[in-house]
Amino acid sequence: MRSLLFVPGDDAAKLKKACASAADALIIDLEDSVAPDQKRNARETTAAFLANDLADAPTLYLRVNEIASGELEADLHVALSDKIAGVALPKARSGDDVRQLSKLLDGAEAKLGLHLGGIGIFPIATETPQSVLAIQSYTECGDRLLALTWGAEDLAAAIGATANRQADGTYTPPFELVRSLCLFAAAAAGVQAIDTVYTDFSDPEGLRAESVRAVRDGFSSKMAIHPAQIDVINEVFTPSGEEVSRARAIVEAFEAAPGAGVLAIDGRMVDRPHLRQAENILTRARQAGRG
Ligand code: COA
Ligand code: MG
Repeated sequence: MRSLLFVPGDDAAKLKKACASAADALIIDLEDSVAPDQKRNARETTAAFLANDLADAPTLYLRVNEIASGELEADLHVALSDKIAGVALPKARSGDDVRQLSKLLDGAEAKLGLHLGGIGIFPIATETPQSVLAIQSYTECGDRLLALTWGAEDLAAAIGATANRQADGTYTPPFELVRSLCLFAAAAAGVQAIDTVYTDFSDPEGLRAESVRAVRDGFSSKMAIHPAQIDVINEVFTPSGEEVSRARAIVEAFEAAPGAGVLAIDGRMVDRPHLRQAENILTRARQAGRG
């Protein structure tokens, strides 16, 4: 998974268009991109879309409304289907919210006749201050945890920040902190970290720079809000031919020297952490069809 494209769940035309994009996954949104009086319409539009033959569609995720919204049960009741691989949980407050959603999914899966536990969950783990302080709780919140992601917009509102980026486009310190916490919590939980959206969809260079930083720091993928962002994200998150060759050389060198803890390749020291990184690159390349 490299790119995940948000699509408002009340917009049938965008849902159709998104399916034809090169996104690896879609996140059909019932939350913030849907006006409060359109929530029911969004659930029904989404259900109608999911009734189509979607065999060739990207992987489908559903962003429901937050636990305390009063909308969540109806979201699951109407819009969940066997075509949904996972649920994105916004404004999560801690791992307890993931456990609560997991219980609701137990019931929904039983009703749909699906195998129990098949639908994953990825919380947006930095949209509330409570969650930032409880980030460790996501490391033990059940087997449905697919990934962790972070968000900067709701958190800015919650803490009273007037901006989350500096003049040069990089995040201010409070948002750099939660971005880093998302990476550490995901690694500690043994799941992937997904980078947040770049909202200026008419700035491909800014998107590219932010995607390059994301790969560098360990994010496995990035969310998008516009189809025009997908090619840049897919390109940056696909390991280059040169990276793949270097990674393969490291793996092969260790295979040729079983028992070795440290080796020299091209005048550089390579040890176990480098081997793990090389294996990660080869896995990402394989998943992107480039290994
Ligand atoms: N998914 C699918 N199609 C999309 C899309 C998306 N996320 N964003 C834009 N498109 C489509 C438009 O409908 C338009 O289609 P058309 O040419 O057939 O009319 C085309 O791509 C070009 O869109 P454009 O005119 O550049 O943008 P817009 O003004 O229509 O839409 C947004 C701008 C921001 C409203 C739109 O990109 C959007 O809805 N993004 C998702 C928002 C979201 O889900 N946010 C929640 C997470 S932060
Ligand atoms: Mg939001």
